[in-house]
Amino acid sequence: MAETVLGIDIGGSGIKGNMVNLETGVVNGERFRIPTPNPSTPALVAEAVKEIVEHFGSEGPVGCTFPAIVRNGITLSAANVDPSWIGADADKIFTEACGLPVTMINDADAAGVAEMAFGAGKGNDGLVMLLTFGTGIGSAVFYQGLLIPNTEFGHLELKGHAPVESWAAARFKEEKDLSWETWAKRVDRLLDHLERIVPPDLFIIGGGVSRKWDQWGKYLSTTVATVPAALRNEAGIVGAALTASAKAPQT
Ligand code: BGC
Repeated sequence: MAETVLGIDIGGSGIKGNMVNLETGVVNGERFRIPTPNPSTPALVAEAVKEIVEHFGSEGPVGCTFPAIVRNGITLSAANVDPSWIGADADKIFTEACGLPVTMINDADAAGVAEMAFGAGKGNDGLVMLLTFGTGIGSAVFYQGLLIPNTEFGHLELKGHAPVESWAAARFKEEKDLSWETWAKRVDRLLDHLERIVPPDLFIIGGGVSRKWDQWGKYLSTTVATVPAALRNEAGIVGAALTASAKAPQT
């Protein structure tokens, strides 16, 4: 039987978990979600993650996404989360709270890992860049299938917008009631800029808006091949599980 590992996606409003089949990238039918605690401090979020671990009765390694820079298990930024995460030893706090080895990974990097293994980037050996559009803008870069972690292209300054995510993130489409075309043109500016400074072979567009690709993908003018993510909502959970499993000591 294929190994399954628990993947957890920590977001601003909800924390979602599911068991992931590592061979197929398919999740179990029922995912489990609890609201993100307020304030979303490391200790409170660790308690919520523990509840998810107990719900699934998981005994193996656990992978967790987080919307910030995560270097060697330490969270180093907090653009859209509680500031107490800056400098927190997240792997240690979560491992102690759950009694199981927990590995944290940046949310966009996790989505990218999943897309490279099972989705839109599968088999692509060139330079692949995944961008996620949601509350912020996340990025993940792969070369020959290998992740270059913690790129933060949503924090570039573009046309006076610093960071660019405070202008082109998907939430502004809702908040400012922008048409698909108006918002897509902001995304297009970012893709155009990235194409000039780190020209990729493929852009993969993730986040909830990738489901509406038919309505706005047509407004992008970049000459780089650009496709919506294939795994959609589950990409973070799948990528987190793959990352935790790769880090766990092999038996
Ligand atoms: C954070 C990134 C994260 C992205 C998407 C940004 O504000 O800095 O680390 O990947 O939001 O959640």
